[in-house]
Parts: sequence; structure tokens; C-alpha cells
Amino acid sequence: MRHLMSPLDFSVDELYQLLDLANDIEANPEKYAHACAGKKLATLFFEPSTRTRLSHEAAMLNLGGSILGFSSADSSSAAKGETVSDTVQTVSCYSDIIAMRHPKEGAPMVASKNSSVPIINAGDGGHHHPTQTLTDLLTIRSLKGRLDNITIGLCGDLKFGRTVHSLIEALVRYENVKFVLISPEELRLPSYIRKDVLDKENIPYAEVERLEDALPELDILYMTRVQKERFFNEEDYIRMKDFHILDANKMQLAKEDMFVLHPLPRVNEIAVEVDTDPRAAYFKQVQYGVYVRMALILTLLGIEV
Ligand code: NCD
Repeated sequence: MRHLMSPLDFSVDELYQLLDLANDIEANPEKYAHACAGKKLATLFFEPSTRTRLSHEAAMLNLGGSILGFSSADSSSAAKGETVSDTVQTVSCYSDIIAMRHPKEGAPMVASKNSSVPIINAGDGGHHHPTQTLTDLLTIRSLKGRLDNITIGLCGDLKFGRTVHSLIEALVRYENVKFVLISPEELRLPSYIRKDVLDKENIPYAEVERLEDALPELDILYMTRVQKERFFNEEDYIRMKDFHILDANKMQLAKEDMFVLHPLPRVNEIAVEVDTDPRAAYFKQVQYGVYVRMALILTLLGIEV
């Protein structure tokens, strides 16, 4: 039985297969419409979500399966003090596969040790968000035609942003990927990723504070929200929250074929006027998120169409 805890759980070859499957699903959705008939996906969300929960659910429904679950810790027995392990042992009896989001780093890993069905980590604290990474990789490959030979700017809350942490770990496996880390000093990428991932693998990267200094050289700009819920005090958040705002003016500095991605939700970091720029790809990215989660569910359940 296979779980998805980190983006590195799939080898580079397996990942290409998964992305190919997602592209085939995009091109031939009817072929997959009944692939999961009789199967159930449970979504256990102990932390808020719009896209990740609903895209897992849409993915299972598109495959002809059904869904159950809860969308907040308050509406589950966690509110009565039940452990993750007990919740998962219970929900394994009701479902064939589980997607779980939790504010504590490592909670989905604990779940996977106590589950009789595959567990998908749908985000654990500031740690990993592997299904967002699969979405990001599918988006980049679909739009640019490649995952190697790119310069990617990661902008915003690189300290707490789990999507950034997972994406960096996934992208260092491809040739000639350069990173430009764009953040205020206080929200720099944690040293455990800078040292243990980038430095260790001799990956080229630069750190800058201003978006303007990075924009001209980027093939992909990955914007992120300042992660309010992971700050210890509100004043720090307020000071940081509008540090970077991408607007139409700044977009003029970027290449014609650069794409802007964002895992969403957006707060202030991308002005709404950018949405009509053909390079704005964040809502396309949402659509890719459904295809890739369909491919993931099929792969973890071992279903071939
Ligand atoms: C992200 C998350 O939950 O980490 N959202 C998502 O799943 N698309 C990004 C965020 O909340 O900022």
C-alpha cells in the first residue's frame, strides 16, 4: 500500500508517468468517468481549505466514486480529544482512500502508520503540501513544456509557506533549475531547506528582497500569501502582509513568456488587474489540480484504465 507524504515519494520517472496520466485525463475525461465506481474518498480537514479539499472531492466524483468527510476539526471528534491515530483507524473502515490536512507537522505521517487505506497528505502545518506540488509541476510542464532549464522566482512567505518547501524539494531533481528567493529578511526560506536541500545539492539560488530585482530573469514567478495563521503575533503579520504586491506595472518588467503561479488563496499579493494578463496562470493551475489529483487517486488505488 502506498501513501503520499512528501513530493519525493515518487521517483522522477513515476512523476512523469503521473503527469502523463493527468494530461491524458485532461484530454479524455470520459475514459475515466467510471474508473473509481464503488470507491470512497474521505477528506479529513483539521484546517481550513477551499481548493485542496474540494479538488480532491471533485477528482473522486469525476472518477465515478463517492466522498465523505469533515471540513474542520470542530465538527469531528478531535474537538472531544480524539487522537489522529484513532480517527484514522475509524475512517479507514468507511473509505478506500483518505486525504488529510492538519495544522501539526507530521500528523498525516502518524495517520499513515495507523491506516489500512492510502493516506494523502493534503498539507501538514508549515511542512509539506505534496498535492499542491503535483499541481504546480503539472502546470509548469503544461505551460512551459518542461521542468528543467527554468529560472523560478518564489515570492512571499518562504518561511512558513509549505507549498514553497515542497516545490523546491521537487524541482531540485531536474537539470538546470535556478531559484530566486524573493522575501523580506524575516520570512526567508528556513535554513534547513537552504542548507540541506539547495546547498547540499549545489543548486544555484539568489536571495533578494525586491520583486523588481528578480522579475526580468524569471520563467516562472510563484507568488505566495503571508501565512497569517502561523505568526506568533499580529503586529508582525501586519508589518509583513503587504511587503510584495504584484501589479500591472511590475508585470512590464517580466518576460513575455513568463507565467505567474499562486497556490491560492490570494490576499493582497497579486492585484486583481493582473488577472487579465495572459501570463496569469493561477486559475488554470486550479484546473490542473483536479486532473493531477484524479491521476493520484488512480495511482494510489492501483487502478489502471
Ligand atoms: C495553500 C496551503 O494551504 O498551504 N493553499 C492551497 O492548498 N492551495 C497556500 C496557502 O494557504 O497560502
